[in-house]
Amino acid sequence: MRNEELRIGIFDSGLGGLTVVKALSQVIKGAELFYIADTKNAPYGEKTTEEILDFSLKITQYFIDTHQITALIVACNTATSAAIKTLRETYPKLIVIGTEPGIKPAIEKTKSGNIGVLATPATLKGDKYKELANNLSAGKDIVLYEQACPGLVEQIENGEIKSQKTKSMLEKWLNPMKENNVDTIVLGCTHYPLVADIIEEIMERKIEIIQTGHAIAKRLLVLSQEEGHSNSGPLNIYLYATDNIDTLSVYNILNTASPIKFISI
Ligand code: DGL
Repeated sequence: MRNEELRIGIFDSGLGGLTVVKALSQVIKGAELFYIADTKNAPYGEKTTEEILDFSLKITQYFIDTHQITALIVACNTATSAAIKTLRETYPKLIVIGTEPGIKPAIEKTKSGNIGVLATPATLKGDKYKELANNLSAGKDIVLYEQACPGLVEQIENGEIKSQKTKSMLEKWLNPMKENNVDTIVLGCTHYPLVADIIEEIMERKIEIIQTGHAIAKRLLVLSQEEGHSNSGPLNIYLYATDNIDTLSVYNILNTASPIKFISI
């Protein structure tokens, strides 16, 4: 792979995957990065596995046909759970990296052994999450407090990050964790880092928050360098959305004024 050939396609249902783009932009150089916010179909976390798989395959095919990507990042825990296996089988030549709740680093960090996991209903229901959680916690003195957060992605997409309603929703989910001496919280949805400050505040700053953007960026660096990527030069970011998106939030998250193109897939 010559340097200019690292062409990254990355997607999520909306703003969440930009937290991963942000992490990538701190590590990856000399590449073209195409981001799709599939806001037409958000939230993914309240859709069926079949629907999420269909969205994921269509977006990936679009990336290949239109942008000739060489690496695919599924910057969404929900889509990873529903589609990563099929994506890898369908596109064996692509580097394919998914997003999974960081249970492993949480187990390494916790002192109380009580870990909170916040994720979408679809992620927590999926076999992939259950296998991950069972395999990693088996035989250890660990309790996982799993909490689905329906409605939270909409709040974030609607620019309601700091609203009282968002805070009350989080309080309802987090207070039982506080009572159970949870000291580590896994953000099992890429949207949730956008409300990390509120989570910290509700938990009285006595917790460690685990998110996965940086691990994904490091993994892409290793895999692309194995294929000859020299990781030097500028990283160009192109933003696409399938429907409306809160542009102010995009600019705040990425600290960029790149224009957003609207596409239909
Ligand atoms: N950001 C996605 C995730 O990591 C899902 C958001 C949604 O429900 O659309 O799971």
